Formats: sequence, C-alpha cells, structure tokens
Amino acid sequence: MSGDRFAGRRALVTGAASGIGLATARRLAAEGARVSWLDVRPGPDAVELLADLRDPAAVESAVALAVERLGGAPEILVQAAGIYRVRALLETDAADWDEVLEVNLRGTFLVARAVVAAGMGRGSGGSIVNVASVAAFAGGAEEPSGAYDASKAGVCALTRQMAVEWGPRGIRANAVAPGLIATPMLRLMDDPVRGSAYLETRVPLRRLGRADEVAALICFLASDEASYLTGATVLVDGGLLAR
Ligand SMILES: NC(=O)c1ccc[n+]([C@@H]2O[C@H](COP(=O)([O-])OP(=O)(O)OC[C@H]3O[C@@H](n4cnc5c(N)ncnc54)[C@H](O)[C@@H]3O)[C@@H](O)[C@H]2O)c1
Repeated sequence: MSGDRFAGRRALVTGAASGIGLATARRLAAEGARVSWLDVRPGPDAVELLADLRDPAAVESAVALAVERLGGAPEILVQAAGIYRVRALLETDAADWDEVLEVNLRGTFLVARAVVAAGMGRGSGGSIVNVASVAAFAGGAEEPSGAYDASKAGVCALTRQMAVEWGPRGIRANAVAPGLIATPMLRLMDDPVRGSAYLETRVPLRRLGRADEVAALICFLASDEASYLTGATVLVDGGLLAR
C-alpha cells in the first residue's frame, strides 16, 4: 500500500515493534507520513523511541524526543501499545491489576497528554486513535482477563473525554475495538483445535483478523476522510460482537 494520504504529516505510533502498531506505522509511512516509532523494545523496523509507558518520566522524554525529531508536535497519534494477561479475578492481585492498568490505560492517558501539551491541534489539527478491544464490551469465560477488560473499557471512556475536551482545539479522538487478531499477543490459537472451533462457532467471518486490517481502519480514522468522526469506538471484529 502506498500513496500520499499522509504526505507531510507527523505521526507517533506506540507499540510500533509488533502486531497492530507495527502494521499501522508501516502503512502511515508508506502513505507519506513522517513516523516516530515508540515501544519498550526494539522491533523488526526501526523503533527509535524506547520507553516503558509505565514510567511517566520516560513517556515525557520520549514524546519530547519525538517532537524534536519530527520537527513539531505529532498531528497523528496512534496508541497500540498494550499487554494482555489471562487471570481469573480471584487469582488477580493488586500488582497484576496495576501492571495492566498502568500500561493500557494510564499509559494511553500519559502519552496523549504529553502530545497535546506539546502542541497537537495548533494549526493543522490532530487525530488520536487509541486501540481498545472487544474486551471493553464483553467478559471472557474461556480466557478471563478482568484487569484487561477494565483497562480497555477505560480506554473507550478516556477517548470520549479526549474528544470532548480537545475537540475545540481541532483534535479528533477515536478508538478501535479489534476482535481476534493474529499477532504475538493472541492466545486463542495456543490450542489450535479449541481455537478453530471457537472461530467456527463464534466469529461470523470464520477466521482471525490480520494486523493490516486493523491498521486500515486506524489509518482511515487518522485521515481527513474521517473529518467529522470523533468520540467513537469502532469495532473491527469479524462480527464477533454482532451475535
Ligand atoms: N491481537 C488481538 O487479538 C487484539 C485484540 C484486541 C485488542 N488488541 C490490542 O491491540 C494493541 C496491539 O496489540 P497487538 O495484538 O499488536 O500485540 P503485540 O504484543 O504484538 O504488540 C503490543 C506492543 O506493545 C508493546 N508494549 C507492551 N508494553 C509496553 C510498555 N510498557 N511500554 C511500551 N510499549 C509496550 C509491546 O512491546 C508490543 O510491541 C494492544 O493494545 C492490544 O491490547 C489486540
């Protein structure tokens, strides 16, 4: 995929070392954006900003570095960094809970706050796309992950608040809620027999999604084609929640 939809735009992508973040950073770059790639670890493509989103000071420095390297505040922010832990509520202790909420929810807040404080929205407007999950809307019986579910529901609520508070600055904020996507995070296919049976019975499109299919939606939301779309959470789940 190439083109000039994002020609001259400055973009910051978190979780850019793998999966959905990697696919999105690649597509933004292929369509003309200057992209800062942020992750806690190196990836197959050049991740130039290494930062742990659990550390507020590291987030501040990484965003400052991104602004310096991009030559201004990002006009596009995609937040795909996240962690997934399968743990029943009775087995979840305070440290487990805090780890998931710190990365998935507080990290999403800290990065966006730093980017907007650095000037997103001044002049050329801005678009924030946060990656939530179908877990924001439905609990998991086979893979219980209460802290994750709560963190992703929080991401949807936080996204709405960003849309409300920052809309007057010309910033749109939306979330995407992926279903079962084939990335290193996915646990469903650890047991291929159970995984295939689940896809057959639960997912109308009868297959896993691909990272590039989520990236396509993220890039649409980030683009000017979505110029009146803000505060929304858009499902990209092969119909999982439709039944
Ligand atoms: N794969 C799925 O089925 C699925 C479904 C719904 C939602 N999601 C969400 O999509 C997003 C991307 O996940 P993915 O499937 O591409 O998984 P992934 O594991 O391939 O990518 C997640 C990335 O986040 C980075 N990361 C984790 N902790 C971090 C931290 N503390 N600081 C900075 N970076 C950190 C990881 O290093 C990794 O590169 C996540 O928010 C995830 O919750 C994934």
